[in-house]
Amino acid sequence: MNWPEPIIRVQSVSDSGSPIIPDRYIKPPSERPSINSTQISNLNIPLIDLGDLKNDDITKREATLKQLFLACSEWGFFQVVNHGVSPQLLDRAREVWYGFFHQPMEVKQAYANSPVTYEGYGSRLGVQKGAVLDWGDYYYLHYLPCSLKDHEKWPALPSDLREVIDEYSAQVVKFCGTLMKILSKNLGLGEEILQNAFGGDDIGACLRVNFYPKCPQPELTLGLSPHSDPGGLTVLLPDENVAGLQVRKDDQWITVKPAPHAFIVNIGDQTQVLSNARYKSIEHRVIVNSDKERVSLAFFYNPKSDLPIGPAEELVTPETPALYPAMTFDQYRLYIRTKGPRGKSQLGESQNSPR
Ligand code: OGA
Ligand code: NI
Repeated sequence: MNWPEPIIRVQSVSDSGSPIIPDRYIKPPSERPSINSTQISNLNIPLIDLGDLKNDDITKREATLKQLFLACSEWGFFQVVNHGVSPQLLDRAREVWYGFFHQPMEVKQAYANSPVTYEGYGSRLGVQKGAVLDWGDYYYLHYLPCSLKDHEKWPALPSDLREVIDEYSAQVVKFCGTLMKILSKNLGLGEEILQNAFGGDDIGACLRVNFYPKCPQPELTLGLSPHSDPGGLTVLLPDENVAGLQVRKDDQWITVKPAPHAFIVNIGDQTQVLSNARYKSIEHRVIVNSDKERVSLAFFYNPKSDLPIGPAEELVTPETPALYPAMTFDQYRLYIRTKGPRGKSQLGESQNSPR
């Protein structure tokens, strides 16, 4: 399998300095970011201080657990501070990727990806000929399982990228392990149930680093079309200086205002399935702007890819019957890998685009 059309890097289009964007990035009017949705609103996704999980005061600990439950069940998205990963490491992780994307095109092209594994330097998701494309390039790499991790497929430059990203990934995986226990307990399950359903130590983990170049006509396009994340959990390290991520809340797109050194966490489709929809995997998208480029690191924590994932049996009752058939993650993600980002149609939910 290969791409249906020659790949053009969005960064090259942006660097060309043209005041208008090529037609292939222009979204139909109903999908464009409207003035309303880009307006500054006071609404933001929940911000949770995980430091209180270690508070001596049990009421503080329980209040934090409750905040997490509400964030997973009502928002599907939240920011966390005091998550245990050092601010210096977060900054280094962002910097090495700016370093990568700012190298000459020939250097980056050596890592060009294909739609078979998606590993490497890419500029589109999905292989449908003639599709309207998103205004973003990315780099996709595997961290777990160890059998899929291959340093040769990670950028060799900047020279400390591999080391920094190894350390960053190890810490994010550890953080996700902690979160999985909390999410499991918050469902009334034993703390290991969710992690075991994901395959215990045999989980998958990969990183998608998004690069959204400056765009001369941001009102006509999107950096990333609406989608929900197919995997288990996503831990996003946003660019602190440039907003771009929008989360769907009822009929609105809410622009996330990043808190300093916070992670943005969201529930993926597999966690929605396992929780039998007690937790929600929410649609999100990315808008771009004309004066600042933006980098984000999306770390995906996924179930072992060949395990059938269905609603946890403890959560299936006569009142709450199973909402989804069991399916492996390998089967599940084929959809997004061929069709590209398409809202939440994969979970059988279709929604009108919010204004
Ligand atoms: C993703 C994603 C959001 C962002 O990569 O799946 O939703 O802010 N990224 O780049
Ligand atoms: Ni996403």
